[in-house]
Amino acid sequence: MKILHASAEYFPYIKMGGLADMLASLTKEQAKTEKVYVALPLIGKLGKTIQFTGKAFPALPPTDAPIDSVVASVLKASRFLEAEEGGVKLYFFESELFQPLDSIYGHAEEHFRFAMFSYACYALSQNLSVDVFHAHDWHTALSLALQKDSVNPIPSVFTIHNLAYQGDHPFWMTGFLKEEPFRLITSPFDHDGKCNYMKAGILSANQITTVSPGYRQETLSEPNGFGLSYCLRQRASDYSGILNGIDTDEWNPEKDKRTFQTYSVKNWKEGKLKNKAELFQEIGRPFLPIDVPLVGLIGRLTHQKGFPTFLQALLERRHLPHRYVVLGSGDPELEKTFFRLSETIPDVFYFYKGYNESLAHKIEAASDFFLMPSLFEPCGLNQMYSHSYGTIPIVSRVGGLRDTVEESNLLKFKTGIVFEPNDAGSLGYALERAKDLFESIDREIVVKNIMNLDWSWKKRKLEYDLIYSKAIELNL
Ligand code: ADP
Ligand code: GLC
Repeated sequence: MKILHASAEYFPYIKMGGLADMLASLTKEQAKTEKVYVALPLIGKLGKTIQFTGKAFPALPPTDAPIDSVVASVLKASRFLEAEEGGVKLYFFESELFQPLDSIYGHAEEHFRFAMFSYACYALSQNLSVDVFHAHDWHTALSLALQKDSVNPIPSVFTIHNLAYQGDHPFWMTGFLKEEPFRLITSPFDHDGKCNYMKAGILSANQITTVSPGYRQETLSEPNGFGLSYCLRQRASDYSGILNGIDTDEWNPEKDKRTFQTYSVKNWKEGKLKNKAELFQEIGRPFLPIDVPLVGLIGRLTHQKGFPTFLQALLERRHLPHRYVVLGSGDPELEKTFFRLSETIPDVFYFYKGYNESLAHKIEAASDFFLMPSLFEPCGLNQMYSHSYGTIPIVSRVGGLRDTVEESNLLKFKTGIVFEPNDAGSLGYALERAKDLFESIDREIVVKNIMNLDWSWKKRKLEYDLIYSKAIELNL
């Protein structure tokens, strides 16, 4: 089977969050048995240098009629450049729209840039004659509408990684979608008076998925449907929740070159101690006493991640011995607060502002606990990375977090600590339980439980195979 994925992110070339990791690890597994292609934008600053194969593909489909429009001229001047990574063929969309960017999101004209990219992805799927077309998030959603209206539609799947970002723009900005070569009827994409790309994807794809069963359920009603729950309910029988897997080579404490010391389930205690000592030396903080739990936090500092709940709990539970290491960037107010704490309580709190892949691995290896106070979380990857590193996750009961972390009364099923979202009291109490667990011999059992969990794509990839079969059936 030939599968083409279309995405704005792909690790290690373009990464802003979990989408990059999810897609790189899923395609790595798929490439063991299928022909897998990925279309992604070529921005000016990539996370890794590319070795192109020298082959190029047009950004317009094979067509009889010569198309004449502004959009067509942009696409004619663009192309896909082929590269290869671990058995997966990558197609970088080379265009003046993306070339000047040093990061993928947050620039003006996104409505136009990602529409062009979506058109090009649709064209590529036709040019490569793939069996399944799989688009991710709003950035590529219009390609599904094009696919649906095509004389030669390719079976399509749309994966929603985060409903909070929908790519909705005033209709006066998206008039070009009605013209050549798009020729889309955009009125069905109307949501709250705007042209909503996410809605276009939901209405058009043969099959829709999201990244955990828990989040699927939550998005079928408000507020977690972010206004689009009615649309998802309409398509509920074609909408599935498939839990993400992780790259067990990239996130493996036994062979992680980014950590100070590799370790396994047999010597996790010594491994963690060494990583903790080295990390504290690197960040310039005094060595941590052996009996003090270290809590790691990593993430985008956005509303979704619920950091204010953590801040409130931290101040309310000052008697706890925990130390915190936070890595992230985003909301300037939160950054300021974190810097202030880093200065006023340096023994307790350390903040690193920025994006740092290597530090993220070091924090996972050094920490005893990993805290995720999300208000909503489509899947979340760090709780699974934490499991692999023997770092006990403390998570809010939402989306993919509640699907992957269980605070069971039965010790042999316990895989973390769970609290109620947006509730500082509940989070504080979870931190108290973390202290008790840290000091108890039960910790050994829980660490063994979590390090032995299998979060690989091996089995979960089969769930996508099933979705692809359904999409093919519906497309006939
Ligand atoms: P989301 O996609 O919503 O950001 P996920 O948990 O799915 O959340 O994935 C986030 C990914 O991005 C993880 O691999 C995490 O380690 C990484 N990450 C987030 N912020 C940073 C940062 N500041 N430095 C390094 N890695 C980060
Ligand atoms: C999104 C979600 C996150 C998920 C990731 C990968 O960014 O916020 O929960 O893990 O996509 O699917």
